[in-house]
Amino acid sequence: MTSATSLFSPVEADLRLLTDNLKQLVGARHPILYAAAEHLFGAGGKRLRPAIVLLLSRATMPNQEITLKHRRLAEITEMIHTASLVHDDVIDEAELRRGVPTVHSSFGNRVAVLAGDFLFAQSSWYLANLDNLEVVKLLSEVIMDLAEGEIQQGLNRFDATLSIEAYLSKSYYKTASLLANSAKAAGLLSGVSEELAQDLYSYGRHIGLAFQIVDDILDFTGSSDALGKPAGSDLKSGNLTAPVLYALEEKPYLEGFIEREFAQEGDLEQALTLIEDSQGIQRSRELAASHAQLAVQRLEHLPLTESRQALIELADYVLSRLY
Ligand code: IPE
Ligand code: IPE
Ligand code: MG
Ligand code: MG
Repeated sequence: MTSATSLFSPVEADLRLLTDNLKQLVGARHPILYAAAEHLFGAGGKRLRPAIVLLLSRATMPNQEITLKHRRLAEITEMIHTASLVHDDVIDEAELRRGVPTVHSSFGNRVAVLAGDFLFAQSSWYLANLDNLEVVKLLSEVIMDLAEGEIQQGLNRFDATLSIEAYLSKSYYKTASLLANSAKAAGLLSGVSEELAQDLYSYGRHIGLAFQIVDDILDFTGSSDALGKPAGSDLKSGNLTAPVLYALEEKPYLEGFIEREFAQEGDLEQALTLIEDSQGIQRSRELAASHAQLAVQRLEHLPLTESRQALIELADYVLSRLY
């Protein structure tokens, strides 16, 4: 498997600085927040989103140093992402994140909800301080989209009539919106043209969709140890993702198990076997690969730099997590 670390080498020093800054930015206010920040930003997050922001910043500033605003944007992006994870883990009742116990399992739901709120609020504050109204609009829409995505997912639980289009729309709100809008924002901070800004948005959107589809496949095929978070929980909790939706087209039997919410003994196991015996995983892989490819096409107009090359390879890295 390609390691994310070597891929991120053009921005390795930037990412180290980012982690230190994040701990300080969040931690200064309160001992509990300090503990939560240490816990979250010290743990094994992949830092995919800030890496993309930093790589795009460098790729769009080929002969100049990136600015403090680019760096702050990368920090804001990781802060928003982390806030969404803290809340998501409360909703999903997940015990493990980034290989360590989740905030709510260490400190309780009350602290987790407040810590997530605080991270969102603080990211808005730093965002406003970038003094760039267009960037503020892009990233504040992301915060709305994240909530919208969780709500859509909650409303669609155990709905076996869910379409792939609805699944992808939810995935845009939950995952791709942050990547798309922060990618575009990085370009705006570099003063790129409207056309290039739109390409960067599409790059982020397609990478985000590919990433979520891969994450959803890994929930079926991965181990909790390797993922640093619980595996095998999406289906059980009624979150119907690409592998299931494709399997449903081949195995109508599956619908009954889902509709009765796996209430009878052996339901979940039988459903998993049906999915395994279907083309669901394979077709999901192809869907992820097609989005990764669309992402790469959008980098065509960037100047040739090692950062651009890393952004191209990142599409393969997202897919390589499957093997
Ligand atoms: C997890 O994101 C949430 C999804 C969108 C699947 P990551 O897998 O990027 O989480 P960290 O930041 O590395 O912990
Ligand atoms: C991740 O959602 C959180 C957001 C993107 C808001 P999931 O529930 O799909 O991801 P994991 O599996 O917990 O990382
Ligand atoms: Mg979750
Ligand atoms: Mg969730």
